[in-house]
Amino acid sequence: MAALVKGDRVAVLTSGGDAPGMNAAVRAAARVGAELGLDMVGVEDGYAGLLDGRFTPLSIRVLDEAARRGGTVLGTARSKEFATPEGNARAKERVAQQQLKGLIVIGGNGSLTGARTLADTGLLVGGVPASIDNDLACTSMSIGVDTAMNTIVEACDRIFDTATAHKRTFIVEVMGRDCGYLAMTAGIAAGADAVIVPETGKDEAQIVEQVKTTVKRALAENKRRVLVIKSEGVKIASERLKELVVKEIPEVDSRVTVLGHVVRGGTPSAFDRLLAARLANAALRALAAGQTDFMAGWSGPGITRPSCPWDPYVVLTPLTEVLAETEKLMRGESELARWRKAVFQEVERILQR
Ligand code: F6P
Repeated sequence: MAALVKGDRVAVLTSGGDAPGMNAAVRAAARVGAELGLDMVGVEDGYAGLLDGRFTPLSIRVLDEAARRGGTVLGTARSKEFATPEGNARAKERVAQQQLKGLIVIGGNGSLTGARTLADTGLLVGGVPASIDNDLACTSMSIGVDTAMNTIVEACDRIFDTATAHKRTFIVEVMGRDCGYLAMTAGIAAGADAVIVPETGKDEAQIVEQVKTTVKRALAENKRRVLVIKSEGVKIASERLKELVVKEIPEVDSRVTVLGHVVRGGTPSAFDRLLAARLANAALRALAAGQTDFMAGWSGPGITRPSCPWDPYVVLTPLTEVLAETEKLMRGESELARWRKAVFQEVERILQR
């Protein structure tokens, strides 16, 4: 499509679950857009704000300050209305009213699904992956994953102290929706004794067995603490898991900590800020050059497309492909899904030693 020209209006929105580093992405988009002579504007509360026509100026000074903080200054939402035909039609009206020429969508799977439909309107649309779950395909990392991982590791280090003092077994539940990436990577980094993720496909009895084996070994070795990290996507409640284990090993003193939304907030790591800046920079420049209907992802193993001209680590993939590959990843049917599953199973065995 035709390249953008100076003065063209480009909007930025953040959508879905917030992720630390979203503000850094908005800031980069605002700064690069200003550099290219574009009229940059923010949308409040994601697609919900787009439907209501709630636009806001993007002040670089405000964003400079916000880039160091978690959450999103633009606000975010999961808009059910946008996904309806009426919602879609209203969004198109708003785009025309605001004379928007381009849109940058910063978010996860649901947000990029919305971006895909808007690209059909003739608007130039670019996606930037942001979700602590790391469940998006065609990017080796999404914005927010690194910070969330660090938050979990820090929390586990604290739990180690109290667990060791009391000779206890802790089951720590972490976010990640249906994806065990966060639990597994944080588990390795924190030195967990066992990690339970949905990808390995265990049933309740097998999970209980896994934890029992871990606890029995720890007791035999007179270990003072056991740390089990469980991904929220695993279909057994953490309290129930604890009760089933304690029922069979009554001498174990066990506690459950659900980290929940603590994992999603907090100061973004330097890596997340830089990742956000580089992905948003490439997305904005691609949009300005007339490209549309893509996600700017971080390259890595298995990402075979060539990098974009603006950053050797950033790869632009059509949104349709991103969404299809993500679906395969979550169904366990892609090459990446099979690799992750194999690695998760191997790590599980290694942690049992
Ligand atoms: O997708 C990000 C995420 O934090 C998931 O890890 C979690 O399952 C979900 O969002 C929680 O959503 P909500 O904030 O709507 O409760």
